[in-house]
Amino acid sequence: MSQYKNRRVILIERAKALPKTELFSVIEDHAPEPSSGEVLLQNIYVTADPGMKGWISNAKNYASVETGATMSSFGVGIVINSNNPNFVIGEFIAMNTGWQEYSILNPETSTYRKVNIDNGPLSASLGLLGHSGFTAYFGLLHVGQPKSGETVLVSTAGGSVGSAVGQFAKIKGCKTVGLTGSDEKVELCVNEFGYDHAINYKGTDQLINEIAKCCPNGIDVYYDNVGGDILDSVLSLMNQNGRVVICGTAATEGWNPPPKGLRFERNVLVNRLRIQGFILFDYRDKYEEALKDIYDWYSKGMLNYREDIAEGLENAPQALCNLYSGLNKGRQLIRVSKDPTI
Ligand SMILES: NC(=O)c1ccc[n+]([C@@H]2O[C@H](COP(=O)([O-])OP(=O)(O)OC[C@H]3O[C@@H](n4cnc5c(N)ncnc54)[C@H](OP(=O)(O)O)[C@@H]3O)[C@@H](O)[C@H]2O)c1
Repeated sequence: MSQYKNRRVILIERAKALPKTELFSVIEDHAPEPSSGEVLLQNIYVTADPGMKGWISNAKNYASVETGATMSSFGVGIVINSNNPNFVIGEFIAMNTGWQEYSILNPETSTYRKVNIDNGPLSASLGLLGHSGFTAYFGLLHVGQPKSGETVLVSTAGGSVGSAVGQFAKIKGCKTVGLTGSDEKVELCVNEFGYDHAINYKGTDQLINEIAKCCPNGIDVYYDNVGGDILDSVLSLMNQNGRVVICGTAATEGWNPPPKGLRFERNVLVNRLRIQGFILFDYRDKYEEALKDIYDWYSKGMLNYREDIAEGLENAPQALCNLYSGLNKGRQLIRVSKDPTI
């Protein structure tokens, strides 16, 4: 048993709809000792991700957390004990740390990245220079395949993934239009993330007309982070051979019973649309390719990002709940120990 007391957040009940703080509990025990080949990390930042709604629900999903288990999450930590010659004390590692203060890395069985803090702030290794940036990169460039001059529409445009999508699309010479949930975020989208237009979808009952006005040449790529009614309406504005990237379903509270289907399905046929879902983990072998490009743009001052950092592990469940009412402004992180790089 290790000398370190480890506070961790466990799931005590699965979610039937949107996550609530009562589904989680904080417990304390000892951090495990690293076995041969393993490494012990002290976590510094962990994440709250909208996709966690699916991880803790009963519906079929690509990832799942069992009741009684530590809540899964991404995180970045510092090596404080190593039984592996490839890991040196003081190195920074991003991986699935879970919502806890200490984590074991077994390099044989876990996906991880060593983080070079010369590239940017440590926290950005979980946002623009990590998970969110990679999601935007592969979703937009590999799945959406935008061409210069095309119109790209993005939902959750002011969020961590959406703000990166808008900026990458701009770099590729596209016209960009963002959908977001407040006037303040509209300003952010236009002034910080370079969108040509942004629309507060909560501030209008004529959303589809407003989108049409901002996209007079139609939509070539819809980067969809929400699904639901917005996806349904946007399908009616897609151009021939348009691509719809299904990245997230933030607008669907639960999947039991399943929500209603799409009204404009016929446009998929008539306009030969491609609607494709993707999961970031399928691209894990290509993360370095994404990081190289994103870092190149970032270091040239071409990219902005925002972070929203909650203090203390015990605030992770509330930080998660905040995502579903749009209270976060940027990548939602939770600081679980002092960042030694600041
Ligand atoms: N496919 C993958 O592998 C993958 C990987 C990472 C993330 N994602 C997805 O990417 C999306 C963005 O993730 P993120 O980490 O960057 O989060 P984020 O956009 O920073 O935060 C979530 C945002 O979702 C919006 N939202 C919440 N409830 C909504 C609703 N009912 N209808 C419409 N919008 C709603 C809110 O923005 P507004 O205030 O603008 O409404 C909120 O701020 C999520 O859907 C996530 O699941 C997918």
